[in-house]
Amino acid sequence: MSPLQYGLTPKMRPLAPRRSAVVAALDIGTSKIVCLVARLRPRPPQDVLRRRTHAIQILGFSHTEARGIKAGRITGLAEAEAAIRNAVDVAERTARCQIEALIVSLSAGRPSSELLAASVEVPGEVRDNDVVRVLAAGSRLSVRAGRAVLHSIPIDYGVDAERGIRDPRGMLARQFSVDMHVVTAEAAAARNLMLAVERCHLSVEAIAVSPYVAALSALADDEADLGAAVIDMGAGTTTMAVFAGGRFVHADGFALGGRHVTMDIARGLSTSLHDAERIKTLYGNVLTGAMDDRDMIPVPAVAGDDRDSPQFVSRATLTRIIKPRMEEILELVRDRLAASPFASEPRGRVIATGGASELTGFVDLAARILGRPVRIGRPLGVSGLPEGAKGAAFAVAAGLLVYPQVAHLEHFDSRLALRLRAGHRGGYFAKVGQWLRESF
Ligand SMILES: Nc1ncnc2c1ncn2[C@@H]1O[C@H](COP(=O)(O)OP(=O)(O)OP(=O)(O)O)[C@@H](O)[C@H]1O
Ligand SMILES: [Mg+2]
Repeated sequence: MSPLQYGLTPKMRPLAPRRSAVVAALDIGTSKIVCLVARLRPRPPQDVLRRRTHAIQILGFSHTEARGIKAGRITGLAEAEAAIRNAVDVAERTARCQIEALIVSLSAGRPSSELLAASVEVPGEVRDNDVVRVLAAGSRLSVRAGRAVLHSIPIDYGVDAERGIRDPRGMLARQFSVDMHVVTAEAAAARNLMLAVERCHLSVEAIAVSPYVAALSALADDEADLGAAVIDMGAGTTTMAVFAGGRFVHADGFALGGRHVTMDIARGLSTSLHDAERIKTLYGNVLTGAMDDRDMIPVPAVAGDDRDSPQFVSRATLTRIIKPRMEEILELVRDRLAASPFASEPRGRVIATGGASELTGFVDLAARILGRPVRIGRPLGVSGLPEGAKGAAFAVAAGLLVYPQVAHLEHFDSRLALRLRAGHRGGYFAKVGQWLRESF
């Protein structure tokens, strides 16, 4: 029995288990756009990254400035389109191939999670088609209006009263159930992102939420098994993904990031955003040291200012500007995690990705506020990344290349998608794809 007969469609074209494939990824951030082209080659499972079925070899790369994007959302379509074209052009040139379709990340649109439960009657033994039937039933449950479903992942199966079953096939049951983790984001944010990419005559193969793909690239399998949270702190957004028992069980996010720190510095020191950014990365710190009051930093004047020579401020002054904002963001992360399944994983650790996590002293401050061990996450198991792209800010882009290896877990109800196209606007469960563009 094919999944299609139950109205289920896979999230994206499945990766053939024994064949190589070339895939392209596009991470459109608030400050930067990263485009990667890679060859995925089948490989046997390895120790640290057991769930990866393919090795990733980078063929093409670009890292360019983002334009027309604010807090991860498209705010200027023409500007964003030009920036995306440029990013894709550069990656195409280095890869010497033409990109037609891309996997794209989304960090805006307040990602959030719902856990949905569905069940079906079974005549005896649970067979493959019952698994498809119960997934189809799960995917017909509705989510809030105005939100698009980005992920729908079965996280637990049950037969009669028995829960926690990984592979139910062959078991005897009357009632067969599934718990699904459904990640949604504001439909407008997803739609505009697709629109910007499609205006470049490129098609979107799938949209994945940033913290999930950051986790796919930066998390070791053992960490996911033991319980972990990945926090991607970018320029305009901070997003998180919680893993328990090896499964992605929760996502959340809000629109604050490193750019807010830069703006605080620009205001506090009366300097330009450009200089504030430079001062932050060169001298920024969230830890106070004994010499900080005497250690002076030059601050260039903004254009039009009366000052003709740079003023000097102490390191302590700079820290006093940066720290409250970083604390505010991390306290929000702490509160969001406390209201998530991560609260029941007291030994779970936090893996931080995104450029804002590179701030000096970040790990100590985050560990203190979150009350957990924290490490910085970088792309794992990706060969051929340029030196400058091996850091935390590239975890999302690299994770988009891991995503095709796990996308087969996800299924969407294509019949509801069709109904939506015909004009149903209430609560819906819908696939990001053709219909998203057509139905608004
Ligand atoms: N060494 C550093 N110290 C402090 N901050 C840094 C450092 N390097 C980068 N950042 C900050 O990281 C942010 C950029 O991070 P990143 O590239 O992950 O964001 P993005 O993907 O463009 O944005 P978003 O994901 O929020 O849409 C900027 O605010 C930048 O100032
Ligand atoms: Mg980002």
